Amino acid sequence: MTTARKLSVAALTVGLVAGLAACAPAGSSGGGGGGDDASGTECNVGISMPTRSLERWINDGEGLKEKLEGDGCTVDLQYADNKTDQQISQIQNQVAGGAKILVVAAIDGQTLGPALEDAKSQDATVIAYDRLINGTEAVDYYATFDNYKVGQLQGQYIEEQLGLADGEKGPFTMEPFAGSPDDNNAGFFFAGAWDVLQPYVESGVLVVPSGKAPADDDGWKAIGILGWGSDDAQAEMDNRLQSFYTGGEKVDVVLSPNDSLALGIEASLDAAGYQPGSDWPIITGQDADVANVKAILADQQSMTVWKDTRELGTQVQAMVAAIVAGDEVETNDTDTYDNGEKVVPAYLLDPVVVTKDDVQGTLVDSGFVDASDVGL
Ligand code: BGC
Repeated sequence: MTTARKLSVAALTVGLVAGLAACAPAGSSGGGGGGDDASGTECNVGISMPTRSLERWINDGEGLKEKLEGDGCTVDLQYADNKTDQQISQIQNQVAGGAKILVVAAIDGQTLGPALEDAKSQDATVIAYDRLINGTEAVDYYATFDNYKVGQLQGQYIEEQLGLADGEKGPFTMEPFAGSPDDNNAGFFFAGAWDVLQPYVESGVLVVPSGKAPADDDGWKAIGILGWGSDDAQAEMDNRLQSFYTGGEKVDVVLSPNDSLALGIEASLDAAGYQPGSDWPIITGQDADVANVKAILADQQSMTVWKDTRELGTQVQAMVAAIVAGDEVETNDTDTYDNGEKVVPAYLLDPVVVTKDDVQGTLVDSGFVDASDVGL
């Protein structure tokens, strides 16, 4: 099944510590306490990712697998086609196949409890990857980017571009979108953005012709696009433009929580005759997917919030190494991510705003994106 070498716990621990000294991020000690090999774990890892249909998850899964195999771990990587039942049975198979560490990016954060409780009863350690797993004690650690900050950066970008904090009164038309209602991250993204933008909606500086402006942070699910699909976002934007912009009004701003939705919204704007560089609205995103980086260079998307998923992989690699060694797992946030059953200790990484001016210096120079893939 997998070609990874199987090493004894002792040999593996030495290899991992040596490997991690070279690749762990600054400040990451890989833990400090314990060091008791007797409590260590075999490095047999099951990685469960939501879907191959989005570039980021392909990069995340394959990047992490390579890192862990480089450390001598046995790794099984599965994608669940955005289907919860499939993800559950893949996790069950991984545990039956001997996985002792599970790294799970949940499709629906609410539904994995029983499968993970079963995994824990067989001594597996569970790391929630990027998305929190809710409603169960059976999640040990969480590695992610600061999800609230992702939304906050989108909101602040819009605020800055329109000069709202400097007193610009508009009014500007805006259409807000939110992510998949079953994705725990989506609520954080929306809250981060809405905490910046909602005061301007209330004061009438931002107007939402479709009426799809949630009354508060908790109302986001009503405008969420289930499954994060570009096509669904496009259909929703078509509908809003055709129903609420009938008298020649133009949309000035679209709050899009990520790149897959932005892509659909941009297709809709294009079909409606909006022109980049003239009446094209400000539009936000997240992930720095290649298609969206191209859109940024073509003035069809204003920004994306970049999460260097290679760093997330490195963080999870350090967590896995600490678990294998029986060391304390390093976290930097122990009070934000309450999953309803426990507050899951988390390691949060910092997201970064990328605009047209930063594509070369940030995305290309760091090797995240190939210049040739985006026409540079
Ligand atoms: C991730 C985003 C991604 C979205 C859709 C979220 O949970 O954090 O990076 O764009 O899922 O896959």
